[in-house]
Amino acid sequence: MKQQLETIRDSALQELAETKTQAELEGLRVKYLGKKGELTAILKQMGKISAEERPVMGQLANEVRGVMEDHMAQRAAQLKEESLKARLEAEKIDVTMPGVPCELGAKHPLSIVLDEIKEIFVGMGFEIVEGPEVELDYYNFEALNIPKDHPARDTQDTFYINDNIVLRTQTSPVQIRTMEKQKPPIRIISPGRVYRSDAVDATHSPLFHQIEGLVVDKGITFADLKGTLETFVKRLYGEDSVVRFRPHHFPFTEPSAEVDVQCFNCHGEGCRLCKNEGWIEILGCGMVHPKVLSNCGIDPEKYSGFALGMGLERVVMRRYNIDDLRLFYENDVRFLKQF
Ligand code: DAH
Repeated sequence: MKQQLETIRDSALQELAETKTQAELEGLRVKYLGKKGELTAILKQMGKISAEERPVMGQLANEVRGVMEDHMAQRAAQLKEESLKARLEAEKIDVTMPGVPCELGAKHPLSIVLDEIKEIFVGMGFEIVEGPEVELDYYNFEALNIPKDHPARDTQDTFYINDNIVLRTQTSPVQIRTMEKQKPPIRIISPGRVYRSDAVDATHSPLFHQIEGLVVDKGITFADLKGTLETFVKRLYGEDSVVRFRPHHFPFTEPSAEVDVQCFNCHGEGCRLCKNEGWIEILGCGMVHPKVLSNCGIDPEKYSGFALGMGLERVVMRRYNIDDLRLFYENDVRFLKQF
């Protein structure tokens, strides 16, 4: 029995030295020290040996068990340390390594100028509001004094979703939505996308951007409109810019005007940029039509207002001397990188 015990001890210790994982170690523990293990099997034979031998063998068996347990605990600690080391090794990073450069995007030219325009109006006390791009015919036309048979509908090649719903052709419907919700004083601008079924070329796109402006209060006059626009143009194009108002017609304003800035390239002489006119048209505007006010439940006897609408693309093209509208939407990085 002594020999058996020693054989078990030696082979256990040898196998132990070869274990590589905690699981293997656990397997070894079961194999030797478990309920059905080899050492346990020998201890079960204790009853068969003589009474004198029994305490000696018992002691030896306990020693063997003790030795095996000690070694297993040691090996367990060793394995744990090894796996920790391996993990640290795997997770090692070199903090001195240079980073991967990440290319920064930049603002789109339309956004650059729009942000500037917003800032100018916010500086004059305007709020920025937005409206839906899929719009009811009522807001896009009817309430703006453009009834079903009005010729102005033809000039705005409308995308119809159905008889009552359109893709807005202008940002003017936001005027109506604002006046329905809010009592005067009102002072808002509303930038956004508008849609017209135009064929794409250098100056046309089925999607473009407008900025609407609306002021309604007691005693608002055309002088307020002029002052506001002159301030706006001087902030946008420089203190020395010259503005002119030309009579025009819009169904939703009366009187109406178009605003031109003197060409800053030729200062009115006439050049390619202004098509020899000396002036460049930048927006439409006027005093809000009394019918439009009353359509929104605002009493035109008590209140008056002015409105304006301008195309963003045109302003940006002039600012950066861009001659093709399509560049704004193609998002060619070589174009975008220049801003
Ligand atoms: N909505 C007009 C257009 O798309 C632009 C415009 C003109 C808006 C005069 C206005 C305005 O608010 O008063 O052509």
